[in-house]
Amino acid sequence: MHSSLAQAREEYADDHGGRNASYIPALAQVSSNLFGIAAVSCNGDIVEVGDAEVPFAIESISKVFSLAYVIDQIGHRELLSKIGANPTGEPFNSVMAVELHHGKPLNPLVNAGAMATVSLIPGKTPDDIWNTIISNLEAFAGHSLSVDEEIYHSESETNQHNRGIAWLLKSYGYFYNDPDMIVDLYTRMCSVKITARDLAVMGACFCNGGVNPVTGKRVVKDTNVPPVLAEMCMSGLYDSTGTWMYEAGVPGKSGVGGGLLACAPGKLALASYSPPLDVAGNSVRGQKALNRIITEHGLNLFLS
Ligand code: DON
Repeated sequence: MHSSLAQAREEYADDHGGRNASYIPALAQVSSNLFGIAAVSCNGDIVEVGDAEVPFAIESISKVFSLAYVIDQIGHRELLSKIGANPTGEPFNSVMAVELHHGKPLNPLVNAGAMATVSLIPGKTPDDIWNTIISNLEAFAGHSLSVDEEIYHSESETNQHNRGIAWLLKSYGYFYNDPDMIVDLYTRMCSVKITARDLAVMGACFCNGGVNPVTGKRVVKDTNVPPVLAEMCMSGLYDSTGTWMYEAGVPGKSGVGGGLLACAPGKLALASYSPPLDVAGNSVRGQKALNRIITEHGLNLFLS
């Protein structure tokens, strides 16, 4: 596996396609050349190459872990009725998608649905809810995590669009707590620092029936892993998820920080970090490198 990761990194290191996210100013400042890949098997074996231990903002990839937590709390049927499991066909921060569907966010991986999902996390105070969010991410990573304060402040100063979406959902009855408070917690959640190595461990929990293969602790009920992976198959890379599934054939999840996760159930998780993104907001080198590794190892779920 190590040589496979190393070859994928080498093949795409000089690919300069895509651009760092710029709508969150701090993300535009990160070096575009950083490139790391990691793999974690269901046995807990870890392999990594390049900048796999450089921290970056988790951004949208955090959505799958809060989703797992909320499904464990309310069950997948309730999640389906309150949030949904269908593609919007629109960019990840679309307001029009909300309007077109009578206020229903459609799925928990676009910004609207992710914020609505965070609004379902129980807690009497913002601190209670935050502690649940960060403890849940830490259980998946297997160690303590912290917020990148610069990115959190940068994103807080520029998140008016998300605040607008949250209030719109509230007006339609699809938001389950105070919008301003939840958008702030969601923004902080997106600013949590992880590495590609962390991300591969976090994803391997889903590949391993909900048990963290490194710590041995259960982080999500086994029966709730399939609905989380189904959401990733349907919207993990937003409006280009279909293209990703066509090529890779495994559930994936991207973030505008440059992270990308791919899960091969029962086998292993792959994670990459490379900041330049395509127009849909997905890491350019990450998609190419993970696709190459997935193809090389025959991980596509639709192969028989
Ligand atoms: O809410 C936002 O716009 C960001 N915090 C996260 C978006 C994101 O990562 C979309 N990803 N590909």
